[in-house]
Amino acid sequence: MTKYIAKKPDAKGNINFTAEENATWQILIERQMQTIQNRACDAYLTGLENLNLPTDRIPQCSEISSVLKASTGWSVVPVDTLIPLEQFYTLLANRQFPAASFIRIREELDYLQEPDIFHEFFGHCPMLTNQAYADFVQWYGQNALTVSKKAQSLLGRLFWFTVEFGLINTAKGARIYGGGILSSHAETIFALESHEPERFAFDVNKILHMPYRYDQIQKCYFTINDLTELYQLKTEKIIKHVEGMVDGTTDSDFIIC
Ligand SMILES: [Fe+2]
Repeated sequence: MTKYIAKKPDAKGNINFTAEENATWQILIERQMQTIQNRACDAYLTGLENLNLPTDRIPQCSEISSVLKASTGWSVVPVDTLIPLEQFYTLLANRQFPAASFIRIREELDYLQEPDIFHEFFGHCPMLTNQAYADFVQWYGQNALTVSKKAQSLLGRLFWFTVEFGLINTAKGARIYGGGILSSHAETIFALESHEPERFAFDVNKILHMPYRYDQIQKCYFTINDLTELYQLKTEKIIKHVEGMVDGTTDSDFIIC
């Protein structure tokens, strides 16, 4: 359930945002452009520069898609506020990123449960210009379509602790690549600087056994060493392992080899 209503594109595929909605985008993007400095990873910052997002208005999907298509063949498409999982996975499998077409109200500037257009465009789209990340997201959609509902929810943990809330080691220290963090002012600071959360080295087995909450700031994060780690996972083995966890036949930890 959500109180937000998706905005419908016109015949040309454009969405007409109000002055208030564009003003909310401006507040969010101007603040977050500052917050991510020295906190977001280089791949994200490069993607953000390439996207050249406007600050005074919400961009259209076509503007974002033209940059993504040229870099990794992805595009963004407007969708309803909440969409069925099958539709979500199918879009990802086709290198189409579903973007909610509403923006949060000012009263929820710092926190909302539903992913809005600021989360999709500012949080995820810069990373979709990175080949390893873009390929991983497509792989996730393709494989989620082939497994059981229970296995989908376990695979969802892999998506959650990477695409949404992933950290990466760099020569300059830990940086953020997860879109759930980078679209949140408070969590961008919390994820790197708070003493509260646990920060684990990237560990697929630990991730597959780690439940998460979508309605509160995270209690733990996983840190990769390189974005290519995402797609270099022995992916078929993960699918087999996850299905084994569901039917109880997996009795050993998943080992990357
Ligand atoms: Fe997201």
